[in-house]
Amino acid sequence: TIPVLTIDGPSGAGKGTTARAVAARLGWNFLDSGAIYRALAVAAMDRRVSWEDEAALEALAESMDLVFEAGPAPRILLWNNDIGRRILTEECGNLASKMAAFPAVRRALLDKQRSFRRLPGLVADGRDMGTVVFPDAPYKIFLTASAEVRALRRYNQLKEKGIDVSLAHLTEEIEERDRRDRERQTAPLRAAEDAVVIDSSDLTVDEVIEACLSVVTS
Ligand code: C5P
Repeated sequence: TIPVLTIDGPSGAGKGTTARAVAARLGWNFLDSGAIYRALAVAAMDRRVSWEDEAALEALAESMDLVFEAGPAPRILLWNNDIGRRILTEECGNLASKMAAFPAVRRALLDKQRSFRRLPGLVADGRDMGTVVFPDAPYKIFLTASAEVRALRRYNQLKEKGIDVSLAHLTEEIEERDRRDRERQTAPLRAAEDAVVIDSSDLTVDEVIEACLSVVTS
């Protein structure tokens, strides 16, 4: 079977940066499952599908033509349009998390996510990678950090990309989104029983990467 390393946790814990780097170091494929939910939010906005319409969102999720281009300048194409920038906003993340609460939506996106499991291996970043999407993964990590640290990291990340937001507003949005992710009925955010928990609050990026790699190589 093809090995998988799952990295789950709340937003801003450093999953994206870490998972990408770990995948590169291992030479494995990479799945940004959050980007799939965010792409659905973009699709819904463009096609004027309400975030409350579970059946319409399910149909949209099934019909989405979504391509993740690899390479030095990776692109995310939705029906051939580059949506890489649009999915970065907190508005999109928040909308995605509302849609992600629907069981039919999550079910419709399962195959898409599992199709990333290809040789020689996969690093999967998300909320339910170790609990629902790849429960048989041999390597599982739950990456967390304090709420303050997570908000500040997200703030700096967005600023780097030229996106200006208020830190206070961002903190509120992140807390609201995390609460929704933790409290939803279907695939709530939680550590898999067999996951290694890593708190990145006081670690450097490199230290987190090494800690993750040691889960796979030890
Ligand atoms: O990780 P990211 O912030 O891009 O995810 C956006 C939202 O998508 C999350 O807040 C969460 O509600 C949802 N999501 C999910 N399951 C995943 C990945 C993301 O429910 N595996």
